[in-house]
Amino acid sequence: MQRRQLLKQSAFVIASFSLSRELFANAPVTNLNVNSSTLIRLGSNENPHGPSTLAKQAMIDAVGISNRYQWDMNALLKTEIAKMTGHTKDHVALGAGSSELLGVVSLWAAYKKGNVVASEPTFKLWMPAARRMGLPTKLVPLTSTKHNDLNGLMNAMDQETKMVYLCNPNNPTGTVSPTSDLENFIKKVASTTIVLLDEAYTDYYDTPSMSKMIDAYPNLVIAKTFSKTFGMAGARVGYVLAHPNTIKALNEFQAWANAGPSAVSMQGALAAIKDKEFVTYCKQENIKAKDILYQGFDALGIKHIKSFTSFVYFDTATYKKDVPALLLANQITGARSFEENSSWLRISIGTVAEMEKVVAVLKLGA
Ligand SMILES: Cc1ncc(COP(=O)(O)O)c(C=O)c1O
Repeated sequence: MQRRQLLKQSAFVIASFSLSRELFANAPVTNLNVNSSTLIRLGSNENPHGPSTLAKQAMIDAVGISNRYQWDMNALLKTEIAKMTGHTKDHVALGAGSSELLGVVSLWAAYKKGNVVASEPTFKLWMPAARRMGLPTKLVPLTSTKHNDLNGLMNAMDQETKMVYLCNPNNPTGTVSPTSDLENFIKKVASTTIVLLDEAYTDYYDTPSMSKMIDAYPNLVIAKTFSKTFGMAGARVGYVLAHPNTIKALNEFQAWANAGPSAVSMQGALAAIKDKEFVTYCKQENIKAKDILYQGFDALGIKHIKSFTSFVYFDTATYKKDVPALLLANQITGARSFEENSSWLRISIGTVAEMEKVVAVLKLGA
């Protein structure tokens, strides 16, 4: 096996490992040093600009009331999320990040006993827990253009399928499915099966949300997060939108009615919702920084997929050096593989200056 292939394979092993809870539990302290001025972190699709000034101040102010449980805030945040998304507060459940709620929905599906169908590759952090809860996963390859294969997912379903997980835009590829295709998919699948639609990245490009279908399809659950355009990944605020009966069913799988984000995080989220200018700024900066990366890739002949998110999937097949190793040697972490024996990698979009550095390093190494 050639050195380059070996390195790429090792990158995949690292990637698989990096998706496991062990890595997060044992993350070296240097990786968590957010104040490090030298390290560029492009592995978790975090917003490099957040949280907004308003959200930061609200969280600082809320520290003083964190001796109290946050009962009233739950209702308030649900109401504000409902206003923002065009639903009622009874259509909303809160979680400490949307990934907590992906777990809750999996628990609900596991309780029905059967299997879950999902794309490969996709966002899989919740899958090991689902498997342990007795919900085996059937994985369906993406299409040749790295889009979710909606027909393939439907074909993979059997009588035991209790849930289909769909990430749109998909992580790690950044691709979106046409709205009409998604509508038809939901109409066909959600009449019998839970459809967990992960919309973590829809806000970046105003990709239409399918939440308009939740009243007609109680099996449809839409997962959203404050971790991306709102820039609050570490504050852990996420939510799902679903039919009120579904929300009630999901609440039964949460430890108690007060589960989810802390008082401090909820105050941050309430302020973040009001700071529309900040979200607009983050979206614009994401486009600028991504264009710099696209231009760099084009100049280097690196194939890449048009992304509707804050990360880009690109093919290193024509690049002579090992990209993750080269970037790492230049203090840039996070470019990694999500497919076995594949030359495709994902990299998160940082600031304009950070993406200029990525391009400069790749050009120097070419
Ligand atoms: C598709 C997708 N869903 C969910 C999450 C988790 O988000 P949260 O921080 O809300 O748990 C991520 C995080 O990167 C993601 O990429």
